Amino acid sequence: MEKREKVILVTGSTGFLGGAITQRLLVSGCKLRLLVRRRDTDSFQISSYRDSLIKELILGNELEKYSQDECGVVDEQLNNDKSLHELFINNVEVYEGDITTSSLGLEDHEYSKLCNEVDDVFHCAAVTHFEMQGDDEHVVVNIKGTENVLQFTNTGKQKRLHYISTAYVAGKQSGLIYEKEIVNKPLFNNEYERSKFVAEQLVIEYAKNNDIPYTIYRPGIIVGDSKTGATCKFDNLYLFVKVLFNIKNSFIKNKSDDLDNATVRVPGDPDALINLVPIDYVADAIVAILNKRESIGGIYHITNPNPPRLCELRDLVMALLEIKGMHVKIDRELEKQSLNTVEKLFLRQTKTYYSYLFSKLRFDDSSTQEILKDTDIICPAMTKELVAVLIDFAVSHNWGEENRTELQKI
Ligand SMILES: NC(=O)c1ccc[n+]([C@@H]2O[C@H](COP(=O)([O-])OP(=O)(O)OC[C@H]3O[C@@H](n4cnc5c(N)ncnc54)[C@H](OP(=O)(O)O)[C@@H]3O)[C@@H](O)[C@H]2O)c1
Repeated sequence: MEKREKVILVTGSTGFLGGAITQRLLVSGCKLRLLVRRRDTDSFQISSYRDSLIKELILGNELEKYSQDECGVVDEQLNNDKSLHELFINNVEVYEGDITTSSLGLEDHEYSKLCNEVDDVFHCAAVTHFEMQGDDEHVVVNIKGTENVLQFTNTGKQKRLHYISTAYVAGKQSGLIYEKEIVNKPLFNNEYERSKFVAEQLVIEYAKNNDIPYTIYRPGIIVGDSKTGATCKFDNLYLFVKVLFNIKNSFIKNKSDDLDNATVRVPGDPDALINLVPIDYVADAIVAILNKRESIGGIYHITNPNPPRLCELRDLVMALLEIKGMHVKIDRELEKQSLNTVEKLFLRQTKTYYSYLFSKLRFDDSSTQEILKDTDIICPAMTKELVAVLIDFAVSHNWGEENRTELQKI
């Protein structure tokens, strides 16, 4: 009952993981305060239209998924004929802001109202691409932004902090990584990893110094829903599959026979471990852990306990795309060799993920397994059927080109 009255401030709710978590928190009856990034182009019309777009972004077509039977809170809090849309209207307040400013971009009165009513802060917002665009975008959003969220958490009423980190704060280490604070700073593959590592350290230190109850969640590489394939983000796995898909189509279009017996070499270690986790497992696990008091002070790997090897994933994808004549050879030494046109194209389009094709990281998830043992939440295996569901969704949504909502286009 207490859980249902909890007020939770969520950052990053318009994102892939933040949206999935927000949906689940809403269904479980929490009162939500969403800190949504202010757009420069915001006008009155856009603002007034905004709430319904955010609702669409977060609830999307998931509405049918949560029938009223599954959504116990609807029965208790509202009349039976009220919809999840109405639950959204009743329990959600949207605040425009920006985590990069000390006030989180809020008006003074909004900041102090939220400081005094929020019980839990769920910090999910981050810059998640690996490219270096601005000089210090990762520092400003992921590190400075987290500092600002910590300051908010420590102002007014005592709050609990939930911080979304990443399993890849482990950087370039190898072997088994445990669910505990990383004490020695590792080397990193990119600025994203580095910024998330620094932010995670900040969270732990600040929370300990200020007696803030905290929990850290470290997901693996998130892909679409295990049942429907649904995703709003088409990076990582999708990028590789899309390039192969396009190569196949261009051969077909040009009626080229070259596909027969063509070998395309891609960089990587055939035994690299690709820690793919479906979004529904990640969001379900996080929300279940969040509701357990014993998770305070804990760090949880929300990762795949049996990640596929790169060569296994390649075989699954090639079979599903029905690229029969073409052979994709995973080559540890590729960069040192001369590349043909197709190989250059592949490398150019997937370069930012290069280092992950060599990763031998394994993530111990004993704490997650222990805390979830009384639930039916388990990480689905990356079977051919699951990869097929993910690819089907991506292809039928044109790799995200038709999936952008009005809000994302603004
Ligand atoms: N996706 C993965 O595979 C993965 C794996 C491990 C960990 N994670 C972590 O999970 C969290 C969510 O990732 P995601 O994949 O869901 O990311 P995402 O889809 O890129 O969403 C990022 C969210 O952060 C918001 N945001 C960015 N800058 C902001 C700012 N200055 N002020 C306020 N909000 C801001 C974005 O708002 P806009 O909508 O306005 O852009 C968006 O809602 C991140 O912390 C990420 O590090 C993700």
